[in-house]
Amino acid sequence: MRKLAAGNWKMNGLAENLSELDNLTQAHPSPNVDILICPPAPLLMQAALQSPVVQIGAQDCHAKTNGAHTGDISPDLIKSIGATSVILGHSERRQDHGETNEQIAAKTQAAHAAGLIAVVCIGETHLQRLENETLDVLAAQLAGSLPASSTAENTVVAYEPVWAIGTGLVPTDQQIDQAHAFIRDTLVARFGDTAKEIRLLYGGSVKASNADAIFQIKNVDGALVGGASLKASDFSPIINALENTL
Ligand code: 13P
Repeated sequence: MRKLAAGNWKMNGLAENLSELDNLTQAHPSPNVDILICPPAPLLMQAALQSPVVQIGAQDCHAKTNGAHTGDISPDLIKSIGATSVILGHSERRQDHGETNEQIAAKTQAAHAAGLIAVVCIGETHLQRLENETLDVLAAQLAGSLPASSTAENTVVAYEPVWAIGTGLVPTDQQIDQAHAFIRDTLVARFGDTAKEIRLLYGGSVKASNADAIFQIKNVDGALVGGASLKASDFSPIINALENTL
């Protein structure tokens, strides 16, 4: 499988920050891994036009293809402007917008139908980890958020412990290993052996300084990076670390 270095800009970046895509392209003219940047929605089209090497993704989409849904964006529109992917079910959307597993599954199915790769995010809160509920939470989120249409080609699963996002806290290697092994086994049990090829990303305070160690862990096929994806100078060493695993 081709590994994936994905950047989630969240609600950061202005039009002028798209120059970071040029910097990334210059640093990685022919990468051996997939590079994906997910900027805020108004920047998507220019980003997709601008970057021949870096793939572009949205941070959310609606479950319908069109209609009276003010402020929402359809997966078909995202696909039509040249984006390849969409992040779905990020914990910030689950929290800020009350998104449920059912809604995420519907959006993921719509993304698949539009020909997009869905990067579906799951992960436990700090309290859930303290109460030993991590694997139960992951199982419920996987079962609830992934539709039957999920394949290794159209789906990426990102394990993002909520307590590790933007905090500088990172799970131990053993904790990441356990979560990723569990996710892999759960996917194979549901979708069969082809699920061995579904890319599993780790996300949560990934930086140049910890990327090497994280990428050594089994079943970690890349990263979903927030803060350290905003500048090419921060993201590029993470891409290099992933390429160094090949
Ligand atoms: P940080 O890398 O800033 O912790 O964010 C991770 C994340 O939420 C990516 O989707």
